[in-house]
Amino acid sequence: MKLAVLRETAAGERRVALVPESVKKLSAAGFSICVEAGAGENAFYGDNLYKEAGATIESSAAKVVEGAGMVLKVGIPTSDSGRNEIELFQPGQMLLSSLMPTRYPRVMQALADRGVTSFSTDAIPRTTRAQAMDTLSSMANIVGYKGVLLAAAELSKYFPMFMTAAGTVFAAKIFVIGAGVAGLQAIATAKRLGGNMFATDVRPEVKEQIESVGAKYVGIDLGQTAQAGGGYAKELSEENKLKQREMLAEQCSQVDVVISTALIGGVFAPKIITADMVRKMKPGSVIMDLAADGGGNCELSQPGRTVVENGVTICAPLNLPATMPTHASLLWSRNLLNFLMAFWKDKKFQFDLKDDILAGALITHEKQITHAKTKEAAARA
Ligand code: NAI
Repeated sequence: MKLAVLRETAAGERRVALVPESVKKLSAAGFSICVEAGAGENAFYGDNLYKEAGATIESSAAKVVEGAGMVLKVGIPTSDSGRNEIELFQPGQMLLSSLMPTRYPRVMQALADRGVTSFSTDAIPRTTRAQAMDTLSSMANIVGYKGVLLAAAELSKYFPMFMTAAGTVFAAKIFVIGAGVAGLQAIATAKRLGGNMFATDVRPEVKEQIESVGAKYVGIDLGQTAQAGGGYAKELSEENKLKQREMLAEQCSQVDVVISTALIGGVFAPKIITADMVRKMKPGSVIMDLAADGGGNCELSQPGRTVVENGVTICAPLNLPATMPTHASLLWSRNLLNFLMAFWKDKKFQFDLKDDILAGALITHEKQITHAKTKEAAARA
């Protein structure tokens, strides 16, 4: 089967779906791989490395896709660069990417109309077997790590405690909201930089994980867990939202840095840091809103921009994985390779919808949106 790797054209995207290391392994397994010229350049994987690994290089995107069984991508198909990527697909072709289908139902409808069979890695059920295919976790780790480095660079203070000849400075207090993959990585990274760490989540069962990476758990009694299955959280009741608001206001007013990573269902960001909370924060403090891709956790965040309100710097960076494209692409590529190899038997891709991973990841097939939540989102759109 031919695999096609397109150059990502979305604004600011520097990752590539497949790196030479995986090309080598997939070629050895019997796939043929065609890569668009320059696809890996922004992640420092040159065309020569792909050729050495066994890929062919094509400068025309249409030629790259021609005759391919599957197209591999990082983001949703776009028209950002003037080329309409959906029109590049041939009906019946497969697409493997992270499509965030409930965020982009219109794009999913367009893929269905085009006759593309699409799989989204972020829709794969969260089972032990699927862990090695989980692009969400791979990218969330980068978001947590890089977000802390950016926060440290914004802060007008040290993170660690320092004993100097001029006297002692105390460690910065850092509060992490949401302790999933990104949040736990943020705690671990900020702790390594010497921060005095505090963290919260609406899934109280993560208390132990928070403590194991070196933060103090700050919780409220919700009366029940907000666990929605698979590690995803559901929205809090109005009563619990009020309870949480008081706790967040208190914590935010005491710390130097707030790092927020909260998502509902892994997709949408609840607005839990209010403008009023920001007004009560210390001047010079920093909010690093790492949920900006999902709309942002802070009412005052402007996704993609940094703003200052009452002396508080509010950063809402978008697509942080694209700022570390070498490792982001390497991990992405390994996740896709693991997906492909799981269904590669007798030199054929086994389209077996009895398999929970394949069925869970399937978003569009035979001109229909097959994924239930995406179907609902498309009807609403
Ligand atoms: P996520 O990105 O959906 O959410 C981030 C965090 O925000 C979650 O911990 C969530 O509980 C929290 N959150 C939501 N609303 C909040 C609020 N109002 N206030 C405070 N926190 C709030 O979650 P992520 O990071 O993708 O995964 C969460 C967990 O799922 C992981 O820690 C892991 O245990 C599990 N997981 C399992 C996988 C597998 O088995 N294949 C793969 C990935 C994750």
